[in-house]
Amino acid sequence: MTKSPNHFNIITLFPEIFPGFLGTSLSGKALEKNIWSFAAINPRSFSFDTHKTVDDTPFGGGAGMVMKPDVLDRAFRSLPEHGKIIYMSPRGKPLTQNTVERLAQAPLITVLCGRYEGVDQRLIDAYHMDEISIGDYVLSGGEQAAMIMMDSIIRILPGVIGNSDTHSQESFSSGLLEYPHYTRPVEWTGPDGVTRTVPDILSSGHHAKIDAWRKEQAEKLTQTRRPDLWAKYLSEKK
Ligand code: ADE
Repeated sequence: MTKSPNHFNIITLFPEIFPGFLGTSLSGKALEKNIWSFAAINPRSFSFDTHKTVDDTPFGGGAGMVMKPDVLDRAFRSLPEHGKIIYMSPRGKPLTQNTVERLAQAPLITVLCGRYEGVDQRLIDAYHMDEISIGDYVLSGGEQAAMIMMDSIIRILPGVIGNSDTHSQESFSSGLLEYPHYTRPVEWTGPDGVTRTVPDILSSGHHAKIDAWRKEQAEKLTQTRRPDLWAKYLSEKK
């Protein structure tokens, strides 16, 4: 596969994980169309001892193993260019839609996926890596986090989702959670025996009123579910 204008290098001990789910659905089609491309690089190929060691015990003691800076450095140096480097880590800056939009502008991103306890700090410092977290919980490796971050970037690349309106309407782009959606049938009886109908306003054909209703719904949802986003929304509206 030739390198596309949106290329990801992924440094991972488990290159076989990629493209994984990114090879299906929207991102899979975009991969076929070469809208994005990737190379998975295994640092183990750059370890030259008999056991192909990539990690070692932490100085100062403690549990787990730390990925070696010298071996990872050789993996980085094997790349013709590395572009922006992101280290997936639960202690990184939280991934937000703003960050995703910024990253979608970058032609080349190198993603470092950690396993074990983490990566020697000197490597992170030497390459001025951005550390990104996908949430306040700990995964068994950076690969899953990398794939989620990549998915959020890939889906907004030009040509991936046909209708660019879809982006501006969805959760976070406006600072609000998305309003509720309805489709046919107009009346539907659920497993609880209750018949629920689609709000009348949505079939009124009155676009201004529909927009106002959707905004009101989005505001209510945001206020109750995400007081943090609501406070930010209010302060930015002023
Ligand atoms: N690696 C392990 N947990 C992670 C998280 N929450 N975000 C990013 N990388 C991780």
